[in-house]
Amino acid sequence: MRYDDKTLVVIGGGSGIGLATAKAFVEGGGRVVLGGRSAQRLEAARESLGAAAQIATIDVFDPDSVAAFFAPLERIDHLFTPAATYAIAPFDHPDEAALASPFDGKFWGQVRCVRAAAPKLAADGSVVLMSGAASARPPKGAALYAAANGAIEAFGRGLAVDLAPIRANVIAPGTIDGDLWARRPTEIRDAAFAGQAAGSLVGRPGAEAEIAQAVLFLLINGFTTGTTLFTDGGYSLR
Ligand SMILES: NC(=O)c1ccc[n+]([C@@H]2O[C@H](COP(=O)([O-])OP(=O)(O)OC[C@H]3O[C@@H](n4cnc5c(N)ncnc54)[C@H](OP(=O)(O)O)[C@@H]3O)[C@@H](O)[C@H]2O)c1
Repeated sequence: MRYDDKTLVVIGGGSGIGLATAKAFVEGGGRVVLGGRSAQRLEAARESLGAAAQIATIDVFDPDSVAAFFAPLERIDHLFTPAATYAIAPFDHPDEAALASPFDGKFWGQVRCVRAAAPKLAADGSVVLMSGAASARPPKGAALYAAANGAIEAFGRGLAVDLAPIRANVIAPGTIDGDLWARRPTEIRDAAFAGQAAGSLVGRPGAEAEIAQAVLFLLINGFTTGTTLFTDGGYSLR
């Protein structure tokens, strides 16, 4: 695929699935604007991508920061919003703030970014939101996290209606072997990968490049809108 003269904004583009998507977009001739909180992480991403990449810091928890990030951007062809920071607590946890964390840290951040980007999106442009396969098959103790992902998928369907002809879709990965899990303790990572291997149809975690390929399909395919694509190796079917 070629993305010449197109701009993709990736909020959460300094690492992981966002960076893998940016890399594939740049390899196809496109330009990217990467956002995240850590300037150092963004700078390393820009060095790896070259002159086709711009960077700017953003914290999706902070409406002023979101506004400042989007203000200088004139035209956006595509927007991808994998940035998220959240904790997972069981539904009977006594602290309501802990229960709200997946909504605060994953749902509302994406809502803020889409609201700020919408006036600048090209009429033939598109948005891809990040949810997760837990919406379809919740792990034990993660009912609020599952609910937040389900809310993101419903938001994506609503956006497809409200933004048309601009398209909106959602990507819902299973467990992916990449930057997110590399930062977690070994025993937790091993348990997650073993769970994905045993609990999926393909018998392994996914790769960031596999999710990037699926995100690019959703961003580019002109007849796909309002859908959630489960890139989970069949995790939600077991
Ligand atoms: N990897 C998986 O197994 C998996 C599976 C299902 C769903 N997902 C979803 O995909 C998301 C991204 O995962 P990933 O694998 O790409 O992990 P990642 O490498 O942790 O990517 C998240 C990116 O978002 C940025 N970010 C985090 N909080 C932010 C905030 N408040 N404002 C702006 N940027 C923020 C991070 O950079 P800074 O820290 O510098 O801000 C980071 O670059 C996950 O959070 C999850 O919602 C992942």
